[in-house]
Amino acid sequence: MINEDFLLSLKKWFITYTSSFKSSKPYYNLNFQLKINHTYRVCFEILNIAKNAGLSKEEINLSEVIALFHDIGRFEQFMTYGTFFDGKSVNHALWGIKVLNNNALLNKIPAGTRKIIFKSIFNHNKLSLPENADNKELTFIKLIRDADKLDILYLFSDYYNNKKENETNPMAELELPEGDDVSDEIYKTLINRQPINYSSLNNLIEFKMLKFNWLYDINFPGTYQIIKEKGYLESIYKTLPKTQKINDIYKRVNDFLDKKVSNQQSKFK
Ligand SMILES: [Fe+2]
Repeated sequence: MINEDFLLSLKKWFITYTSSFKSSKPYYNLNFQLKINHTYRVCFEILNIAKNAGLSKEEINLSEVIALFHDIGRFEQFMTYGTFFDGKSVNHALWGIKVLNNNALLNKIPAGTRKIIFKSIFNHNKLSLPENADNKELTFIKLIRDADKLDILYLFSDYYNNKKENETNPMAELELPEGDDVSDEIYKTLINRQPINYSSLNNLIEFKMLKFNWLYDINFPGTYQIIKEKGYLESIYKTLPKTQKINDIYKRVNDFLDKKVSNQQSKFK
């Protein structure tokens, strides 16, 4: 059972742990801070989605713990490897579970609840939902995947639209060349709504368009609503060249979003 006191103790631990990451390189400190901010916004998003979905108080607390720790592996990952790119370092989800275990943080809670937390963290960054999860586990895995996507969409649309000249952040660029269009291969994958692996990306355009593909991997109706209201798709599209393939993909994904949102609205009429 995760009560208020235990939740508070975990939040305090998070502050102490993350503030212990200090580097002589300002760029490292900036990236640590970005991940702290990201975590707090994901906590905010998950609470919203969980409340909208009608979860109990205890389940809402559990969602918050998952959000608080979903990227806890990011700090040691960046400190050790200087990158957030898992392909060039380690799987940050697995690393996070190791951090939680090493600090014996969740020993006081029932094994079943601990398993939900670990399974949700483990699956938060996977290409698709796992097949070996029960309904309860799936609910929390879906929650963290939606909340994380919402904040990354916010982060990207903000970064690309308000970017100052000469400012680059590998967290939002993945060290890829600019590019001028999407490749035929990635275009087909986007049309077929298939998940895309980071390692198959050729340029920054495709990296941005991978965010469009996330629309097909959203679990809660409320998440679609937020994506629509905040205009995340438009703000990413604004930064892309207007080629035929890119326009086509944008139209498809936008129509899909509109349909999801209007289905939801018609339920309440
Ligand atoms: Fe993550």
